[in-house]
Amino acid sequence: MIEIIENIKKQFEAETEKVKSLSELEELRIKYLGRKGNISNAFSLISDVPAEQKPQFGKELNQLKQQAEAVYNKIEESFKTKSKSLMLDLTLPGRRSFTGSKHPLIQTAEEIKGIFSNLGFVIEDGPEIETDYYNFGALNFPENHPSRDMQDTLFISKDVVLRTHTSPVQIRVMEKQKPPIRMIAPGRVYRRDTPDASHSPFFHQIEGLVVSEGVTFADLKGVIESFAHIMFGKDINVRFRPSFFPFTEPSVEYDFSCVFCRGKGCKVCKGTGWVEISGAGMVHPNVFKSVGYDPKKYTGYAFGMGVDRIAMLKYNINDIRIFFENDVRFLNQF
Ligand code: DAH
Repeated sequence: MIEIIENIKKQFEAETEKVKSLSELEELRIKYLGRKGNISNAFSLISDVPAEQKPQFGKELNQLKQQAEAVYNKIEESFKTKSKSLMLDLTLPGRRSFTGSKHPLIQTAEEIKGIFSNLGFVIEDGPEIETDYYNFGALNFPENHPSRDMQDTLFISKDVVLRTHTSPVQIRVMEKQKPPIRMIAPGRVYRRDTPDASHSPFFHQIEGLVVSEGVTFADLKGVIESFAHIMFGKDINVRFRPSFFPFTEPSVEYDFSCVFCRGKGCKVCKGTGWVEISGAGMVHPNVFKSVGYDPKKYTGYAFGMGVDRIAMLKYNINDIRIFFENDVRFLNQF
């Protein structure tokens, strides 16, 4: 009977030589040391062993079990240290993790919003899909005004458009609130334009509106000037030129002295020393009427601002399309 133990031992030793992986080692463990393994089975043979051999049989079998366990542990340990040293190569260069960054337009919009918040403006929001009424009608666009023309406006249906500007948010806010109002509304707008360096079928505006009793054009000038100074520096001048918008009277377009040459004249400002920013004006009485405000009691000013335009000036970018291509080589720089 003792040979049985000898045989198991020889077989076990031969098989340990061949183990090449932790999974093979596990198979070996199950085969010999598992609950139904060869060694455990041998223990159940003890009842068949002649009485005088029983002590020796038991002793040797126990020894075999301990040896097998020790061998198993040793092989396991060597596999583990080997795989650990394989995993940890201290000579490898470190893996750099890349953090994302905010899109330059988001950064610019946040900066503009921050400036106006500090000037006491509340931030409002409106839908990008608008009705003809909010985008045009309530803003005093006559029925046959060229801005309603298919050329500029992307229509969803006869009376529903992708908003062409953020001005409709003025109407939505005035409809739900009584004066005083002091708000800005940032957002995306859409126009039927062919993309080129200065045109994109969608871009971003920030609308401003202040309504109260006794608001004057001087207040508008003051706010735009403050903005220019905070955004681009105290030496920036602001110029207002007469213009026309249906929803303001009088209307202006306003320019900043060129942020690159500080007004001296360069390529960006085409030698004029000025860069065009957007439009503004005093809210037209008809606009007040369409929201049920008394135009004799209240006055107000409104202004637009192109976020993309401001970002192009801030970061010296000469093509608006680059904002929307999402080339990481460009975005990584911000
Ligand atoms: N909505 C105009 C545009 O998209 C910009 C504008 C002009 C906004 C005059 C105003 C304003 O609030 O008073 O071109």
